[in-house]
Amino acid sequence: AFPKRVKVVEVGPRDGLQNEKNVVPTPVKINLINMLSETGLQVIEATSFVSPKWVPQMADHTEVMQGINKLPGVSYPVLTPNLKGFQAAVAAGAKEVSIFGAASELFTKKNINCSIEESLERFDEVMTAARAASIPVRGYVSCVLGCPYEGKISAAKVAEVSKKMYSMGCYEISLGDTIGIGTPGSMKEMLTAVMKEVPVGALAVHCHDTYGQALANILVALQMGVSVVDASVAGLGGCPYAQGASGNVATEDLVYMLNGLGIQTGVDLQKLMDTGTFICNALNRRTNSKVSQASCRL
Ligand code: HMG
Ligand code: MG
Repeated sequence: AFPKRVKVVEVGPRDGLQNEKNVVPTPVKINLINMLSETGLQVIEATSFVSPKWVPQMADHTEVMQGINKLPGVSYPVLTPNLKGFQAAVAAGAKEVSIFGAASELFTKKNINCSIEESLERFDEVMTAARAASIPVRGYVSCVLGCPYEGKISAAKVAEVSKKMYSMGCYEISLGDTIGIGTPGSMKEMLTAVMKEVPVGALAVHCHDTYGQALANILVALQMGVSVVDASVAGLGGCPYAQGASGNVATEDLVYMLNGLGIQTGVDLQKLMDTGTFICNALNRRTNSKVSQASCRL
């Protein structure tokens, strides 16, 4: 049975913009987040406290965190790969963070420059500091349905890494199909394995739409009881360390599908589409949202 309500986690300002070639002006990012805050979304991932040498687009993280209007009832988590990032995030006013690991050794090396084992040690330091500061931590696991460097990733490996990050104290594990290569078949197999180790209520799915499978994969996850879904307004994005990876499922398309299923999100689709138009105009690009394309009066 489908969940009655789904929490949509908007990752556009972070996952959507981190890969943009041209520097997106900080006021545009702030405006984007402020508009998203008015749509009824409960969670808006705002930026990353990562190395500016690795991801220059997120170098203005502190300005973004300090410039946005933080609405009550909305959380604005940020990515923190290590203690240094965590401390900078807290200093900038972050009240929630995410650590990000992967089920692939090679991807972990390319993305955060260490092994899976070392990444878990770094995350442990973040978890300890977060616990002391009463800051909730979300955990990402990337490459859950395939890796750009290793190819197939076993469901058992995904379950193992997910379990470790959940046991560390992450309140939620977001399962990332980083390169959008999964299908409803592989999603079902992977979730079946992960759900043996982590309660389904603590799972989220994070589907990039590279192969056009994201909505189908999300539908399977919903059928299996997952009730938290990541998405990116206008379908912006991709990971800089996963070549060819396109954006996440468009938030507009996800909300349209959930509306059609009678699943509540609290999100105003029209306001979301207006936000998509704003950011596409600012970036001078066409939206990846099919719903917005269909509704656009040319
Ligand atoms: P490193 O070079 O191994 O780190 O990078 P290091 O500890 O050896 O430090 C090297 C330098 O980086 C030092 O500066 C540190 O101070 C600095 P220097 O002395 O050379 O001037 N440094 C930092 N600076 C700012 N913030 C920090 C930080 N840490 C160290 N937090 C590191 C390791 C993790 C920092 C690096 O690899 C990195 O920043 N990687 C970024 C990865 C990233 O942002 N990827 C995209 C997000 S993940 C994603 O998109 C997937 C997801 O969407 C899910 C999915 O789709 O699957 C979440
Ligand atoms: Mg992603």
